[in-house]
Amino acid sequence: MTKIAVAKGDGIGPEIMDAVLSVFKAAKVPLEYETVDMGKWVFDKGYSNGMTPEAQQTIENLGILFKGPMETPKGKGVKSVNVTARKTWNTYANKRTFQTLHGVDTVFSKAGIPIDITIVRENIEDTYGGIEHMLTNDVALCRRFITRPGSMQVIKYAFEMAKKKGAKKITCGHKANIMKLTDGLFLEVFYEVAKDYPEITANDIIVDDLCMKLVSRPDLFDVVVLTNLQGDIVSDLCAGLVGGLGFAPSANIGDHISIFEAVHGTAPDIAGKNIANPTALLLSGFGMLRHLGLMETSAMIENALLFTLESGKHTGDFGAKGTESLNTTEFVEAIIQNFGQLPAHNPKPILANKDITPTVFKLEKNPMLESADHNGEFIVGVDVFLESNEQPNMVAEKCLKHTLDLFKLVTISNRGTQVWPKGSVFTNLVNQYRCRFESVGDVALTQVDIVELYKRLTQDFKVCSTEILNMWGDKKAYSLAQGQ
Ligand code: NAI
Repeated sequence: MTKIAVAKGDGIGPEIMDAVLSVFKAAKVPLEYETVDMGKWVFDKGYSNGMTPEAQQTIENLGILFKGPMETPKGKGVKSVNVTARKTWNTYANKRTFQTLHGVDTVFSKAGIPIDITIVRENIEDTYGGIEHMLTNDVALCRRFITRPGSMQVIKYAFEMAKKKGAKKITCGHKANIMKLTDGLFLEVFYEVAKDYPEITANDIIVDDLCMKLVSRPDLFDVVVLTNLQGDIVSDLCAGLVGGLGFAPSANIGDHISIFEAVHGTAPDIAGKNIANPTALLLSGFGMLRHLGLMETSAMIENALLFTLESGKHTGDFGAKGTESLNTTEFVEAIIQNFGQLPAHNPKPILANKDITPTVFKLEKNPMLESADHNGEFIVGVDVFLESNEQPNMVAEKCLKHTLDLFKLVTISNRGTQVWPKGSVFTNLVNQYRCRFESVGDVALTQVDIVELYKRLTQDFKVCSTEILNMWGDKKAYSLAQGQ
């Protein structure tokens, strides 16, 4: 029998996990469970990443973690155990499925507009690296990483999943019109991967337009793939379309380890009262059962859940106000009573189980994601970020003293908007400038030339940070300043 790791979590976590496992037990789901120690109380015991070393070992040995929501202690400088788990084990794809559930009233269900959207969100990169610095007392900077191999992993997963699901269309949500290099790279990889899936229509949409269309015509979308932060926001928007967080399941998929959990948190306001809605965790459990090849059992329980919802049974957070709500235990008992029933709307086809035995693996070293080399790279300049309370002309004058024969000062910008050599007095300034130095005559520079410039600039300024300007052949590997 396959063994999986289970972490019950904090707040309502233990209540909803016990409820879901009782449904699995009644359905004779052929799984064994090993409970692991993760969550707030593990932080409180002094484990700074929110899990014991034994828990980490067990999860790495078993490859599947079914988890309840976990609280991140506030004000102790610790990182969320949920995010740590996703990043440590490289669960690079976050998949969330949002479907119309009959019995859960929404504006769309009332209007007869069906929803069946799967959001695949990149789960590791983007601003979620949490690499942030105060450059000056007034200016904070967050680094946003989008990588070719990281984008490739999640986009390939999205296309494979879309193919298995029989999806006709896959859409890439992005903001490449503004972030031409980061979102541009994600979009480029999307269309590169799309070439291998001619049977699926691939298109893209700017994320703001996507949000507008999702709330007006959600039936236009099938599978949508996005970068991390945009995917985070869009997937909660989709949760709202189908009735809220109580109905939003999530799977964090990696090559070796996958984590299944509900989207919602620990709901401290209702914890310990046995009134939480276990549906989102149950739906996440179906994703896990299917991932493990247990198609038949998963469909049987899902049909019982759909039948139960259709019959008007509900917990306190949804459903008709006129009918009495069930508590968590009563709600899952109703589902168990309905085993074998088929819902009137969208019954799940009972597919045969697949023989998917999770591979037991041992990694000796961190896997390195390979990518194509960029040819003909050379340095043509540097962006130097300086602290200054002076006007742009004065900053330029001081910079020009230090350019030597090698560099020319090309542009100065403030918050990304050019303020020198041309600019507008109406542009508000903060105490941090980006000064772009390029090589005279476009000759290749060395890193030592850059260090020399840096040293000279420190005579007049506090240098906050630098970024080297590279050319790849005739292609600029950096963006132009607004107005440059
Ligand atoms: P939350 O999702 O816990 O609660 C938001 C609202 O939704 C509350 O009114 C709550 O009662 C309700 N709610 C949530 N799940 C419900 C359910 N199953 N049944 C009925 N009502 C439900 O979000 P909040 O309050 O922002 O976060 C609370 C804690 O959860 C925080 O410590 C946060 O860090 C953590 N969290 C953990 C997550 C995870 O483990 N993946 C995800 C999100 C938050």
